[in-house]
Amino acid sequence: MSGVLITGGAGYVGSHVLRELLSRGERVVVIDDLSEGHRAALGGVELIEADLKNPDIDYTLDLLFEREPFEAVFHFAANAYVGESVTDPGKYYWNNVGGSVKLLSAMARHDIKFLIFSSSCATYGVPVETPMSEEHPQSPVNPYGRTKLAIEWALADFEVAHEMRHVNLRYFNAAGAHSDGDLGEDHRPETHIIPLACEAAQSGSTLPVFGLDYDTPDGSCIRDYIHVQDLADAHIKALNYLRNGGVSSSYNLGTGTGYSVLEVLESVYRVSGCKVSYEKAPRRMGDPTLLVASSEKIRLDLSWDPRFKTLDDIVETAWHFKELFPDGYRGEERESSDGLE
Ligand code: UFG
Repeated sequence: MSGVLITGGAGYVGSHVLRELLSRGERVVVIDDLSEGHRAALGGVELIEADLKNPDIDYTLDLLFEREPFEAVFHFAANAYVGESVTDPGKYYWNNVGGSVKLLSAMARHDIKFLIFSSSCATYGVPVETPMSEEHPQSPVNPYGRTKLAIEWALADFEVAHEMRHVNLRYFNAAGAHSDGDLGEDHRPETHIIPLACEAAQSGSTLPVFGLDYDTPDGSCIRDYIHVQDLADAHIKALNYLRNGGVSSSYNLGTGTGYSVLEVLESVYRVSGCKVSYEKAPRRMGDPTLLVASSEKIRLDLSWDPRFKTLDDIVETAWHFKELFPDGYRGEERESSDGLE
């Protein structure tokens, strides 16, 4: 059986897709440099500890692809802090775009035909209409979004040259934790509202709310939170779609319902029983007022339907993970590399 490769498989979304693939009996290998990901999230699957932008990556990938005729690659490896991408764009262009070009070139050399790409609603920029469909103009407003869009373009060009088919999955706000309880969100530093609100609920610390003067009913920003297992399910459906001859395509992933930051804090209170104390803070640079997806296209084409339909459904899983792992994966041991020789 030919397997699949996951780049960034130790990261938040990547590790959930890995779990789903393993549960379906797929053969999986992970490439991750563990700069952001966690060995503990891999569950013992083979890890090639490697960085896609390192000079020796061509050699590593050639060895790996000669050893295993992978059918498909799921590509998650990327830096994903919008603010950092503004202050350090070089890091984002090297890691995200440079690393992706290395990967695509190696796939072309070894005739690997399918790629499922972890893209983002950040490729759209400021909404000109809501909800946003895949037809929305792509005009990203920060380097992070521009690197994701550049990779989408590269994929289109590699398809023309090398007949490599792809699916771009444009996530809105990935959130929540695995219902098994042992996989979850653990970014360092953490910047995302749901884990931060759970942390504030648990510790009694005060959470800054970035802007209460937006043109929304309660003044805080509105986002479309989508559960990480629903994202994982979409990745599996995208793989099967390509296997069944599907043409390259792009799909939004959200529930289609927006929740404000204050509604997130209320949800954490409902779920945990702990009030989240907050204070008004200045607006965060680059935050659009409202981001809500239309995911009609993937519902129709791939029969995808999110299981975690409400914000409380999502927050419950995040809170459960926080209760079980108050320090995230911090206890894990960083063992030495088991990369290819
Ligand atoms: N927020 C706060 N206080 C905090 C943290 C966040 O008020 O301490 C607010 C933000 O200002 C925003 C909302 O909570 O209004 C959600 O913020 P997140 O950081 O959780 O998520 P973002 O919407 O900024 O980011 C997501 C993805 C990115 C993607 C981006 C596209 O995580 O990968 O959407 O805009 F690039």
